[in-house]
Amino acid sequence: MTESLFPDPPARGPRPADAAERLATAAEEARHCRRCPLYRDATQVVFGEGSIGASMMLVGEQPGDQEDIAGRPFVGPAGKLLDRALADAGIDRSTVYVSNAVKHFKYEMRGKHRLHKSPNRGEVEACRWWLAQELDLVRPHFVVALGATAAQALMRRTVVLSREGGRALVWADGSHGLATIHPSAVLRQRDEPSRAQAYDGLVRGLIEAARLAAG
Ligand code: URA
Repeated sequence: MTESLFPDPPARGPRPADAAERLATAAEEARHCRRCPLYRDATQVVFGEGSIGASMMLVGEQPGDQEDIAGRPFVGPAGKLLDRALADAGIDRSTVYVSNAVKHFKYEMRGKHRLHKSPNRGEVEACRWWLAQELDLVRPHFVVALGATAAQALMRRTVVLSREGGRALVWADGSHGLATIHPSAVLRQRDEPSRAQAYDGLVRGLIEAARLAAG
């Protein structure tokens, strides 16, 4: 298990009656987060969104270029693909809580473009402070990791998707879930057949998540 730089918030009891207010407070506090250097270059923090008591939480890697500008998770190309995959899996996005392992956009400039850079282990670990609070307050029945970074944040160790993806897992905090391919990884596939196959994997992962969550 990875040594934590920051302790978890207090252990879980029953969901507090003021969970919604506390989540709003956490989102406000996160706007001033200095736990890692990523705040310096990002436009703003992108906190999770969805309702308290959502039965499913989806955790991505980090906001992308468009999310950084909009201040909302999964609204850019990966978000549009995720919306389609959720619809194909019979999941209504308005019923799930959507967040990210890391709440600031990490990028490098290539000409005029801001190119996504993967967060490192320390950044994921620092940002787990916020994810842990979201998990504690939303208290979903089922937590889906979209991609290896989210799975690493939730499991607190490396998760190899080809080995552990697509099936029931118990995350480090004891919550139940599953890891599946990240929508951006679908978009990154080289050709259309590979994209279709990867997309199919994402939809199958979400269908299995819905099935396990219901059970
Ligand atoms: N990729 C993510 O992991 N999260 C987003 O919010 C957008 C793209």
